[in-house]
Amino acid sequence: MNMQTSLQDRMNDRKLIKIGRNDACWCKSGKKYKQCHMAMDEKIQRIQDEGHLVPDRSIIKTPDQIAGIRQSAKINIAVLDYVAEHIKEGITTQQIDQWVYDLTTKMGGIPAPLGYHGFPKSVCTSVNDQVCHGIPDENVVLKEGDIINVDCSTILNGYFSDSSRMFCIGEVSPEKKKLVEVAKECCDIGLKEVKPWGFLGDMGQAVHDHAYANGYTVVREIGGHGVGIEFHEDPWVGYNSKRGEEMLMVPGMMFTIEPMINMGNVEIFVDEANGWTAYTEDHMPSAQWEYMVLVTEDGAEVISY
Ligand code: MF3
Ligand code: CO
Repeated sequence: MNMQTSLQDRMNDRKLIKIGRNDACWCKSGKKYKQCHMAMDEKIQRIQDEGHLVPDRSIIKTPDQIAGIRQSAKINIAVLDYVAEHIKEGITTQQIDQWVYDLTTKMGGIPAPLGYHGFPKSVCTSVNDQVCHGIPDENVVLKEGDIINVDCSTILNGYFSDSSRMFCIGEVSPEKKKLVEVAKECCDIGLKEVKPWGFLGDMGQAVHDHAYANGYTVVREIGGHGVGIEFHEDPWVGYNSKRGEEMLMVPGMMFTIEPMINMGNVEIFVDEANGWTAYTEDHMPSAQWEYMVLVTEDGAEVISY
């Protein structure tokens, strides 16, 4: 997704501004540049010179931003916890939308999907062969055997959080249960590859290989994304990538791990009637979990789940 960059962002871009060793660091820590991000910036520059894709300074979160994003994520997690406790056979996906709207706003947040590029509801609810961006509907009643992804995103004080979980309604078939479990394993295995100075392709390949080892496919057209200051920021995060490729991971980056795992064919299509909801072409089930992760000094931290 193309995001408009502000003048300030462009001025902060490391390619345009050289900060003196003794100047204040760009991250507003109050420390001198040489005692803060200087060594990291130089290391990133060396890796870029070797021909790799590297993050712009604008997507490396400062400690203050991380603190704000954590607060947003607290609401996001609480809302999904509420859904987990109350979701059951017989409720409608519209009911889930109402829970999400009521709880998010009660806690002081704004549901990020509402009105986002015209999205009409507060949450995405994707059932069975719906891959993602399912629209809550009072006519969609959850029934025993359904699997559903509830994808929840919150804005608090301008900070964004985003994560999703799968739920099994009553007894589901062993095939669907396994799909849901393997989709979760894909996120956990991908998460293990998130660490500074690795590449997003390390994570992408791990996700891909686990899904295909189980006989599943990984949707190509829709991926994860940077998140925190905007709903969708750089980088684009795919899960059909190769180890050592795609963007360098550095401390302070935040992005989502949210592969869509199809039981059958990899192909999908978008419902022309609403312009949003993606379905598997073969109408076999699809499953997705979403973690929002922060790259730390020595690994990764899940910020929302
Ligand atoms: N939460 C989704 C994601 O993971 C985005 C949904 S966009 C919406 O990126 F408008 F459909 F909500
Ligand atoms: Co997302």
